[in-house]
Amino acid sequence: MAQLDLSPLFSALADVLASGQEEIATIGAAALRRHAGSSPVSEPAVLDTNTAIENLLHDPNGLPCTTQILPVLDQLSWHYSGYDDGRISADVALKMQTVELIGALGMIFDDSCRVGLFAQTANTDYIIRTHAAEELFVQIAGEAEWMKGDELYCMRGPGDRMHHASFQPHASRTIDSALIAVWVWAGEVDYGTYSYVGTGPKTGE
Ligand SMILES: [Fe+2]
Repeated sequence: MAQLDLSPLFSALADVLASGQEEIATIGAAALRRHAGSSPVSEPAVLDTNTAIENLLHDPNGLPCTTQILPVLDQLSWHYSGYDDGRISADVALKMQTVELIGALGMIFDDSCRVGLFAQTANTDYIIRTHAAEELFVQIAGEAEWMKGDELYCMRGPGDRMHHASFQPHASRTIDSALIAVWVWAGEVDYGTYSYVGTGPKTGE
């Protein structure tokens, strides 16, 4: 079997990150470009949530990088978000899938940051969480409500950027649509500091 080539995907995701001004975006884009030629370790997993995510990637409103995710979608090392290590309860975790493309547990090893894809199926409330790492999400496709800190939930779409400071509580919840986003963790990237905070305020106007 031919070596999995993630360089087109990494280039496309780096462009998405680099379209913003956040320092963490620069860190993530640099990691993607640095590792474009690295050989990934792939443990392909097609999860129950995969069909919904594949359908979402055909949404014409999604960012152009969706065309670079689709060809390798089934070859990425997807796992249910936070399920295996018990960070997230099964009723929520089994509705979301994550792949760490670059990172200490990633398809390509790098202990300076983590970069991956995150997808959440429709009608899923991924309640408020917090962690030491600074975090950036850039939504690629789909619609979802996001909140952070004291802010109310606000509907976000493709191209929107959700930047969370270290230990700033944040949440995402989907209604009619699934979502897929690229994410970056920088700073203190240990998953051990991750915790739930609880449920959040109602949707804003
Ligand atoms: Fe987070």
